Amino acid sequence: MPDAPAGTERRGFLKLLAGAFAALAAALATVPVLGTVVTPLMKPKADDGGLLRAAGLGELVEGVPKRVELTSVLVDGWTRSVGIIGAVWLLKKPDGSITAMSSVCPHSGCSINQKSKSTYGCPCHDSTFELDGKASEGPSPRPMDTLEVQVKDKDVFVKYRRFKIGVPEKTEIG
Ligand code: FES
Repeated sequence: MPDAPAGTERRGFLKLLAGAFAALAAALATVPVLGTVVTPLMKPKADDGGLLRAAGLGELVEGVPKRVELTSVLVDGWTRSVGIIGAVWLLKKPDGSITAMSSVCPHSGCSINQKSKSTYGCPCHDSTFELDGKASEGPSPRPMDTLEVQVKDKDVFVKYRRFKIGVPEKTEIG
């Protein structure tokens, strides 16, 4: 049997090599696609489990409550967005420490406002709270809910949590 011409062998080898490169390129192209599809499934629904920046230290005036809305990155399936997850009342005390209390009324969940220089009030059923959160009037079954605060450099961070409403005990629900 006669040998194949040298050019035919070379062409076959080059075709094989081109096919191998094409297969490798196709395999590499699927890596980012797989990452996009699989990554959201492995992430928590919202990454608000930690501390959220609430304000700069310089924004707080001693004895004057400041309401701030906390934002966090929300993950819903493959959609990521930044949204407001809740509001808190910050207060700088005479010793320089900072307290944070949820703006959610423990009675039925309405949003607590500042009522006077020294009190907060809930517009729904007229509960009144002292600046330290103690319930002084109205149907609220407990004080305003306190939240963990940390000051790092010149920023105030709050660990936002939600609590069961309508009960005397402060019970975290998420
Ligand atoms: S919800 Fe606040 S007093 Fe009822």
